[in-house]
Amino acid sequence: MIEMKAVPCLVICLLAGVNAGDFTDEEYYSLPLLFHLDRYDACLSSTDGLYCLGTFHLTSEQRNPIYKIMQEYSNNSDHYNHTQLHRGYCVSARCPHTAPDWNSTQRFERCAQELVRGRSLRSSLHQLHYCHTHKDANTSFVPDTPQIVFVAIVAVFVVINVIGTTYDLMFKDELKKSKVLCAWSVISNWQRLISDRVHSDPARAVLLPLEGVRVVLLAIVVAVHTGFIHYMLYAYDPRALERMMQHPLLLIVKNGTAMVQCFMVLASFLFAYNILLHSKNHEVTFRMLPKCIFHRYIRLTPVQLAAVGWAAWWWSAVRGGPQWALAREEAAVCRRRLWLHALYLHNLLEPQHFCLLPTWSLAVDMQLHLVAVVLTLALIRMGRRAVPILAAMFLGSCLLNAYLIYIFEWKSMLYVMNPQNTFMKFVDVPSFYHFYISPWGSLPSCLLGLLLANIHFQQQLNGFKATEYKWFVWTYKLSVPLIVGFTYTGYFVQQYTSSVVTTAHTALERPLFVLLFAIFMLGTFNKLDSIFKDILSWRIWRPLARMSLSVLTVHWCVTVVFVAARPQPLTSSYLDIMADWMVTMIITYIISMPVTILIEMPVQRFFTALLF
Ligand SMILES: *[C@@H]1O[C@H](CO)[C@@H](O)[C@H](O)[C@H]1NC(C)=O
Ligand SMILES: *[C@@H]1O[C@H](CO)[C@@H](O)[C@H](O)[C@H]1NC(C)=O
Ligand SMILES: *[C@@H]1O[C@H](CO)[C@@H](O)[C@H](O)[C@H]1NC(C)=O
Ligand SMILES: *[C@@H]1O[C@H](CO)[C@@H](O)[C@H](O)[C@H]1NC(C)=O
Repeated sequence: MIEMKAVPCLVICLLAGVNAGDFTDEEYYSLPLLFHLDRYDACLSSTDGLYCLGTFHLTSEQRNPIYKIMQEYSNNSDHYNHTQLHRGYCVSARCPHTAPDWNSTQRFERCAQELVRGRSLRSSLHQLHYCHTHKDANTSFVPDTPQIVFVAIVAVFVVINVIGTTYDLMFKDELKKSKVLCAWSVISNWQRLISDRVHSDPARAVLLPLEGVRVVLLAIVVAVHTGFIHYMLYAYDPRALERMMQHPLLLIVKNGTAMVQCFMVLASFLFAYNILLHSKNHEVTFRMLPKCIFHRYIRLTPVQLAAVGWAAWWWSAVRGGPQWALAREEAAVCRRRLWLHALYLHNLLEPQHFCLLPTWSLAVDMQLHLVAVVLTLALIRMGRRAVPILAAMFLGSCLLNAYLIYIFEWKSMLYVMNPQNTFMKFVDVPSFYHFYISPWGSLPSCLLGLLLANIHFQQQLNGFKATEYKWFVWTYKLSVPLIVGFTYTGYFVQQYTSSVVTTAHTALERPLFVLLFAIFMLGTFNKLDSIFKDILSWRIWRPLARMSLSVLTVHWCVTVVFVAARPQPLTSSYLDIMADWMVTMIITYIISMPVTILIEMPVQRFFTALLF
């Protein structure tokens, strides 16, 4: 491990000086364990078994040197809060003599108290995740009604696909086949998935590198979420996780979350650009508004609801174990909030309770799509005058956000992403649920996507030769190094925590990132460089890119299924997280294939054939 970390760290660590911990190992290991799990199955195998999982607050009455170290250690936001202990106790075996008239919560609390009393500490139960008895663990699985309904709906989809495929096969060569039925043909959808046909229109063919961009970005997103899930579970060595998150290498995650904004830029860019191309030969009016909105809705919703529905009713049934509470609690949220997901309001109403965290970007996508549709249709006749208008709106939205950030004291991920907040799933971090996952937080990116579409469209109309503009060529060449360099400036920025610096950083982070990304895209479209363009246009990306929506919605469940069922605290290191990431990627793409072919593609084609 040493060698692995040392190489990339070298430059930065040398510049900044190695982060000397203020606490010796001896001091650190004198603290009570932060996470502990008793054996779950063994505990519940006895008929009076009682296993509880929860969080305790520690306090101390007298002057207690250990408690003082705990407080000092926790005072650093890069550390877990060590005055809280996270425990999974086999109450029945540890404390068999608790009074018989106490309920399980009380027994758990007393049991924990007895165990810390030796250190002259007092503990109080802060959060109880569950208490399980022998009966909870030893009931045979009987599906309940919603579970059966879910399976029935999936079965209906399969049957319709079988019908569509049979129809397609029977009337193979006939010209006048029903499009409505053929939409459900697995064969034609499979061919669509793996097709590497390049668009005949050169204006659309230059967009090919976008497929590669989407796959690469999504892979990074999955990696980051895999790491997140490690932080949300019990850690065998919390100090390793604390150090990992402070590590300069990880700045690319802490200060690179604006990367997700690239999806927002791409979404509005593609929409506006296609409408602009369409307007060359067709009339584009406001009458298209419902169609444009419905088109996006029907594209996103079936896959999202399938994933949320599965999470709501089947997720918690697939595995178990002491840490499985992570899935069980999120599944409960999914059951409550399925309807919000159908309306794309889940990032606005009680956003701190999330179900399938990655779906926030779908909500933002849908919400900003409304903005994109209205603006595109309104500005379509403006021609090149749309560019300054959109540029002004982009600036305006950045200023609006800066104002909101200043008023509400929101902070960027660089400041709020720490082990404790991540473990608590950001429930106490308004910056996360009122800014990070909000539509206004991504509004500048959406507007920039529209601006980019207009600029690129105008350039093509006017036969723009990018190579004639030296400054543009150079900014393009520097854009990727600048993006990476920009994330690493976080190393210095994070040392300043005055409100001026945090506000400035939070307000500028996303706009700067997406501006650099927009320059990179524009240069790629103008074929300024062939290496990136060729790599990103590789044909292998195309089928993978078509599965992006399913991958985005499914991967969270996949990682949790693999990681959260481990019976003991996790040994998390770069390599462990990387291994889980690999597994997640492979399984996610395997699952995404049928989801895309049996649900996403046919539903979209079906409604397109039926309505438009
Ligand atoms: C740690 O948790 C305790 C409650 O146990 C809380 O009072 C304290 O403010 C927290 N410390 C930090 C640094 O957040
Ligand atoms: C925590 O840090 C702040 C300033 O950084 C200091 O004022 C406070 O006394 C510290 N608390 C403890 C318990 O060390
Ligand atoms: C156990 O008893 C306590 C105090 O009487 C009560 O607050 C708590 O709700 C009870 N818990 C359960 C699970 O019954
Ligand atoms: C429950 O436990 C009993 C013995 O205690 C065992 O015979 C039975 O098979 C178990 N049931 C399940 C579903 O595991």
